[in-house]
Amino acid sequence: MRYSEDLIEEIRMKSDIVDVISGYVKLQRKGSSYFGLCPFHNEKSPSFSVSPSKQMYYCFGCGAGGNVFTFLMEYENFTFVEALKSLAERAGVELPQLEYSKEAKAQADLKSTILEVNKLAAKYYYFQLRKESAATAMSYLKGRELSDETINKFGLGYSDKYSDDLYRYLKSKNYSDDILRQSGLFNVDERRGMYDKFWNRVIFPIMDVNNRVIGFGGRVMGDAKPKYLNSPETKIFDKSRNLYGLNLARTSRKRNLIICEGYMDVISMHQAGFNNAVASLGTALTSQQASLLKRYTDEVLIIYDSDEAGVKAALRAIPMLKTAGLATKVINLRPYKDPDEFIKNMGQEAFQERLDNGMNSFLFELKAMEQQYDMEDPQGKTDFYKETARKLLRFEDELERSNYIQAVADTYKVPAEDLRKMVNRFALQGAGIQEVVKPKSGINRSHEKQNGFELSQKLMLTWMTSYPEIFGEVARYIGPEDFTKPLYHTVAGMLFEQYEQGQLNPARLLNNFTDSEEQKEVAGVFNAQIPLETDEERKMALLDVICRLKEDSIAHKSAQLAPTDMQGLMDLMQSKKELEDLRAGKLHLHISFN
Ligand code: GTP
Ligand code: MN
Repeated sequence: MRYSEDLIEEIRMKSDIVDVISGYVKLQRKGSSYFGLCPFHNEKSPSFSVSPSKQMYYCFGCGAGGNVFTFLMEYENFTFVEALKSLAERAGVELPQLEYSKEAKAQADLKSTILEVNKLAAKYYYFQLRKESAATAMSYLKGRELSDETINKFGLGYSDKYSDDLYRYLKSKNYSDDILRQSGLFNVDERRGMYDKFWNRVIFPIMDVNNRVIGFGGRVMGDAKPKYLNSPETKIFDKSRNLYGLNLARTSRKRNLIICEGYMDVISMHQAGFNNAVASLGTALTSQQASLLKRYTDEVLIIYDSDEAGVKAALRAIPMLKTAGLATKVINLRPYKDPDEFIKNMGQEAFQERLDNGMNSFLFELKAMEQQYDMEDPQGKTDFYKETARKLLRFEDELERSNYIQAVADTYKVPAEDLRKMVNRFALQGAGIQEVVKPKSGINRSHEKQNGFELSQKLMLTWMTSYPEIFGEVARYIGPEDFTKPLYHTVAGMLFEQYEQGQLNPARLLNNFTDSEEQKEVAGVFNAQIPLETDEERKMALLDVICRLKEDSIAHKSAQLAPTDMQGLMDLMQSKKELEDLRAGKLHLHISFN
């Protein structure tokens, strides 16, 4: 069962977008819209706009946009239902209890119960640390130069010397052994039964981006082994999809995020004012974490330990971050081992300087590659440049490639022209063929074409929602059936229906897309800008889009036409004729833009 469309719309109407967003962003009225600093990217002058009449927001800087639900989904990382619930509560609308399937309900209950247990445990540890009996733990943290404020901000705690007190505490709250086992906070063995996993350790609660405790790290207070114990993966703790400290770093408003290895590194960077630091959770960086980072930034600074393992880890992370669309720099902290040590010894300003002097990740990769060649030997050196030239071929964009050739030439003091010639020769020979040519092979070419189709459909939707006044005229030539991409087809169907009922309302239409990716895509269509000044330019551009859309749709239909379908064939001929007339200027668009 889902919530009814009417109810969703009621909640949207009762949640004025300007009011809601004002709770997060300082907005100022300018003309008919409100403007503020965009919460989704870093900027100094406001390009984030909220329209009270459309009940939509849009950022001219980064393209984020949508309705009031989209905003909460993006800002709070809520699902659609979470956004709906939060706005319903705010508006004082009571939501009916949804009847889930038995299994779905059991799963949802299990997750929320484990979350509850984690929260209680985090509070318990937090409280223990602040008792007199935890003097050693507190002085351990103080010995590592953490301030009270920092200790509180990260919710640090202590699991005391008894190995069953958390267990007894949670039992007193009536949780079953089965739930406690699934929380990952306890070990079970035949002889001893169930007992606390963490004891006599300082505790680092791990939170997701919504500040929910999903797991724990526990550190010994001396040199015993293992240094850290971490919660195992549970129904709510997926190490590959979370990053330590991201709940705080996401609102840092810095232009990049710093990724490092350890809990303590994150904490000491935050304490020194580098509140954009996060860490992976004791595992190598994953592609899911890279995409997670991309939600909040375009640039990542890698600060891994200065040892061989750290360099290896950076070399593995770089392509992953690049694939996610992130620019990457690598920070060198030598002679210190990690950010915590560096900051303690050199202080905040020196650290900032290292951040400012991050090494471009491509040059970092080359530097690591030097180890494999005898750079003193002319042959070794030549082989190194050949390998470099092959790597340079991976930059498909000509200007980008040229910039990198120049950078390599500067770094290694070789003539840029020679390097360029080498790269071009490899290009002609088809070297690096795997990386460069493969994406252009058969399958992908038809993919490119498909993107062309999608683009004109998308543009058409943008036109129809940006200029509702042209809808009637456009509808003479275009119908929902001309949109072949399923998502756009659905959207177009809804728009035409709204039009026929005399109320175009994109913000309302967005309610129908509860999946956050779909919602984002549809919102993007409604918010895209058509950067044309004069009506004449607009007319030309619109005509062009109509023609392309029509042409694609005709091609699509004729590919699907059964050879015996005479009526279909005649319709198709008629459409073709219309298209030709439009092209030839025999039919006119009777349009004026307000
Ligand atoms: P400090 O030594 O207290 O400064 O810790 P750190 O945060 O600098 O950690 P370190 O760089 O030594 O290790 C990086 C991360 O790897 C830690 O934050 C843990 O998540 C994980 N880790 C380190 N040691 C262990 C261990 O013994 N066992 C497990 N499971 N994980 C560990
Ligand atoms: Mn450390």
